[in-house]
Amino acid sequence: MRVLVTGGAGYIGTHTAVSLISAGHEVEIADNLVNGKAEAVRRVEEITDTSIPLHVVELTDQEATDDLVAQGSYDGVVHFAGLKAVGESWREPLAYYENNIGCTTSLLGALARHDVKMFVFSSSATVYGANAPVPYQEDYEPLEAASPYGQTKVMIERILRDVAQADPTWRIALLRYFNPVGAHPSGRIGEDPKGIPNNLLPFIAQVAVGRREKLSIFGGDYPTADGTCERDYLHVDDLAEGHVAALDAIARRDPGVGAWNLGGGRGTSVLQMLRAFERAAGRELPHEIVERRPGDLPAFWADTTRATEQLGWTAKRTIDDTCRDTWAWQSQNPQGYPEE
Ligand code: UD1
Repeated sequence: MRVLVTGGAGYIGTHTAVSLISAGHEVEIADNLVNGKAEAVRRVEEITDTSIPLHVVELTDQEATDDLVAQGSYDGVVHFAGLKAVGESWREPLAYYENNIGCTTSLLGALARHDVKMFVFSSSATVYGANAPVPYQEDYEPLEAASPYGQTKVMIERILRDVAQADPTWRIALLRYFNPVGAHPSGRIGEDPKGIPNNLLPFIAQVAVGRREKLSIFGGDYPTADGTCERDYLHVDDLAEGHVAALDAIARRDPGVGAWNLGGGRGTSVLQMLRAFERAAGRELPHEIVERRPGDLPAFWADTTRATEQLGWTAKRTIDDTCRDTWAWQSQNPQGYPEE
């Protein structure tokens, strides 16, 4: 298939581009380069030994998006483009609603006009909110994310269901990611957060490489085995392969919308992650237990039955694989991608 990957210069987008190309698909990337990097796309070209057109475009610009889709002869789209920082979304909610929803509706309009009706959407486990029973199952309702970032995911899922209801020829996958971590084993591409990382693994990796003094563990008194929060971490290459499986599945299934959890199906605590990273980096890492972070849930993970049965996909890589690959990326690129 000819696949347009929006947000394809970002963390999950680059890894998914590699998996799509490895599976025999042809990939083009659209990105506004606000978070993504052109250098990351060059490295995907290097890893896959292919040439990948990079369209630098604001998808909120309907004319530019229409031109992009008109020239592409795409069979399908994997849509990652969007803002993704939870904390920032509380401070700048309008930017999140305008950008994430605006670029999706603009893109969907262009795709409908040019009859490209295969669409994979980058959703999040955050749509399950604070009350869903663990493990999270796809049929749970009502979806209700706490943050404006999470609300954009809930709303876009709703928009996609409405679009498919109005035109039943659409084939749409809503992929609810748990906690994506890790990097391509080459260490050439990986997660390159702006400023101080909010997420656990990038923070630990920056402690290990000497960019941060120590890890603050947010809360040691949760009702979990070791008192720290548990999350369902999955290797970004497993996640990337989940997109390839989802694209294949929606192409062969009846048209319509499906939601699938992409997770490893088990919880790992903050302390377990830290210990695994220490094994990968070969030394102990300074850390201290501090206050809980407001809004954190004690523990959640995915029920992955549906993805296994319907997509034929399961996460294969271990936490140790993940930490080894994150360390390969971070130690080879201590400051992330070079400034452009
Ligand atoms: C967060 C977002 C979620 C988003 C996901 C992307 C919140 C509330 N949720 O999930 O919407 O989809 O990132 O990956 O922000 N931790 C520390 N010290 C740190 C950083 C994190 O102890 O410096 C702990 C947290 O308390 C948490 C765990 O590590 O228990 C994972 O945190 P994080 O990587 O931020 O992911 P989530 O909060 O699960």
